[in-house]
Amino acid sequence: MKKINLFSITILLSLFIVSCGDKPAPAEETAAPEVAASTGLDADLQAGKEAYEMTCASCHGEKGDANTPTAAALNPKPRNYKAPASEWKNGNTVAGVTKTLKEGIKGSTMVSYAHLGDETIGQIAQYVVYLSKN
Ligand code: HEC
Repeated sequence: MKKINLFSITILLSLFIVSCGDKPAPAEETAAPEVAASTGLDADLQAGKEAYEMTCASCHGEKGDANTPTAAALNPKPRNYKAPASEWKNGNTVAGVTKTLKEGIKGSTMVSYAHLGDETIGQIAQYVVYLSKN
């Protein structure tokens, strides 16, 4: 009996010491910057979303449905990203959208965005593919 009591006291004491000690920051806090809290998107998708909304949403719409006043005035119309893959000229994949962004689509207001650089183009392409599915 005495043995058990001593044992529990030791456990309690060490719990007390641990809970009073300097705690390291919880894991969530250090991992937080990787995922945007408001949208739950990973860092690349979040960067793509921000660049897309600044550069592309006026024609293609924030949700990618091309339902904007600017789109209504254009011929040909900006791609609605929800349209089936068969309606896309370069395809609704990251590779296809990257090609579109680098070269533009001749004969339309979809110009080349090569000046944005490979990293930003890759992030925007990911976000366009994401919009096509969400
Ligand atoms: C001035 C309006 C305008 C802006 C701004 C614009 N686009 Fe477009 N986009 C168009 C039009 C118009 C088309 C359709 C071209 C066609 O069908 O010939 C198009 C087509 C596309 C397509 C479909 C290509 C395919 O395979 O059929 C993608 C993807 C696209 N745009 C992405 C973007 C992204 C990403 C941005 C921003 C970096 C952007 N666009 C900015 C007008 C615009």
